[in-house]
Amino acid sequence: MIKTVKGCKDRYEKDIKLFQYSKRVLSETAEQYGYTEIVTPIIEYTELFQRSVGQDTDIVEKEMYTFEDKGGRSLTLRPEITASIARSYVEHHFETIPSPLRLYYIGPCFRYEKPQKGRYREFYQFGVEAIGDISPLLDAEVISLAFTVAKRFSLKEIKVKLNSIGCKKCRPLYKDALKNALKLRYDDLCDDCKKRFYTNPLRILDCKKESDELKKSLPKIADYLCEECKEHLDAVKKHLTLMDIPFERDSSLVRGLDYYTKTVFEVVSTNLGAQNALLGGGRYDYLIEELGGRHVPAVGFAMGIERLITILEAEEKTVEKRPIIYIAYQENALKETMDIASILRDNDFIVLMDVKGGNFKKQLERSAKQHSLYTIIIGEEEKEKRVLQIKNMETKEQKEIPSDQIITFLKDHIKGEKNA
Ligand code: HAM
Repeated sequence: MIKTVKGCKDRYEKDIKLFQYSKRVLSETAEQYGYTEIVTPIIEYTELFQRSVGQDTDIVEKEMYTFEDKGGRSLTLRPEITASIARSYVEHHFETIPSPLRLYYIGPCFRYEKPQKGRYREFYQFGVEAIGDISPLLDAEVISLAFTVAKRFSLKEIKVKLNSIGCKKCRPLYKDALKNALKLRYDDLCDDCKKRFYTNPLRILDCKKESDELKKSLPKIADYLCEECKEHLDAVKKHLTLMDIPFERDSSLVRGLDYYTKTVFEVVSTNLGAQNALLGGGRYDYLIEELGGRHVPAVGFAMGIERLITILEAEEKTVEKRPIIYIAYQENALKETMDIASILRDNDFIVLMDVKGGNFKKQLERSAKQHSLYTIIIGEEEKEKRVLQIKNMETKEQKEIPSDQIITFLKDHIKGEKNA
């Protein structure tokens, strides 16, 4: 038997319902904040991620699905989407559009990671990018959007963690101080962190293998931020407070991608286990410039939709099912049946027509198995009299109504349902 590729999954039944529902709420929320959708290709030239996410990150070093196409070009299945948006911005001269440019996306990403709960090799990201302004209000807006999303899904047990990782001016000073402190503890570091010591020492701060004791003993970025970064962070905090968004400062939050400057944040949930980040993001003021564009500051975040669904499942959220209308009929009333099915579908009802035929008892049994709300019954007599029998499958009550009143009847009787 051929199975799904390791770390990937098929979506069906309950999962696909929550997936569709999540995508709908996420895009509606983004649109309410004035963000418009962008779709970019799933494959990009490998160089894009090497130059943006960063050569020394786990993603680029170990996790990319990279291959050569028949023309000998190195291509990569995108491990994230911010780099693609920045590429698209430069390629299509989006700087000519009034800024800030507010974009959102939903699509699959691929990372060759060890699969476990909340961590897949193919996963979907919903993300937003606000491009073209340095204002801390934009950071707060993006965090507020993330928080609103969590509220829309009524998520409990969530926390916004916030930090600043400085800029090109102040971060090198902090890196030096960090390396000086880490030098004395080098032998205690795990094998990955021994490498990170040389390539990306900030990542040691969020390595799960290192002890809290070690992390606590290290210098804090807060003490090394330049005036500009400090003011920026203070302003973001002020705006979040004005918006009643609870957050906590986490000085060990550094994020795993190289393009960040100043603000970084995550929304975490205790319902997620070890992979507790529902979403993560931050500012990336130099990325567009580094990909050949102008100096265009930007900020954004991305959320793993599988992680959102994990929380929804843990909190026992279900998506209300739209009612099914089943049609049972006699062969000589097939034309009338098809006409009714078509009218109902035009009015946004979900219609299942029996296909096996046979007597009405059998057709009603099949209707019950489909968990339909109503069964419409059309036989010879109904056809002649231009009426329908309509049976409520829950109460078992059956009524005769004129055929041309079916829409009004269903709309009146299925109150509060989305399709009525
Ligand atoms: P990231 O933290 O690498 O950031 O990923 C964002 C989110 O994607 C994570 O918080 C998590 O929910 C989800 N995620 C990541 N890896 C996996 C996985 N293997 N399985 C399931 N879910 C996963 C970024 O990707 C940045 N581009 C975010 C950003 C946008 N920064 C600025 N703008």
